[in-house]
Amino acid sequence: MGVINVTDRDGVRHELEALEGWRVMEIIRDWGLPMEGICGGAAECGTCHVLVAPEWLDKLYPPREEEELQLDQLPVVEPNSRLSCQILWTEALDGLEVTLAPLA
Ligand code: FES
Repeated sequence: MGVINVTDRDGVRHELEALEGWRVMEIIRDWGLPMEGICGGAAECGTCHVLVAPEWLDKLYPPREEEELQLDQLPVVEPNSRLSCQILWTEALDGLEVTLAPLA
């Protein structure tokens, strides 16, 4: 058990309890923040786009090809863009900081 810190699109920071093995997209959505996750985590919709705080980027597994391809479809992508459905939360990510990407 641990937490992730999520800044929403109004700039409000939320500390959310996280569970091992859950996708970050699921954690954010299940706590009621505006996270669509339309494709259910298949890296096919891009609606789970988040910006990862720079200090956390190296602690994540690098994106797989499916994630890279989907990120390429988004209108605006930053160097710290990730699909939160592709980030499985583990205790090594306790305190992870992400920001919900602006809606296109
Ligand atoms: Fe669809 Fe992440 S939930 S790409």
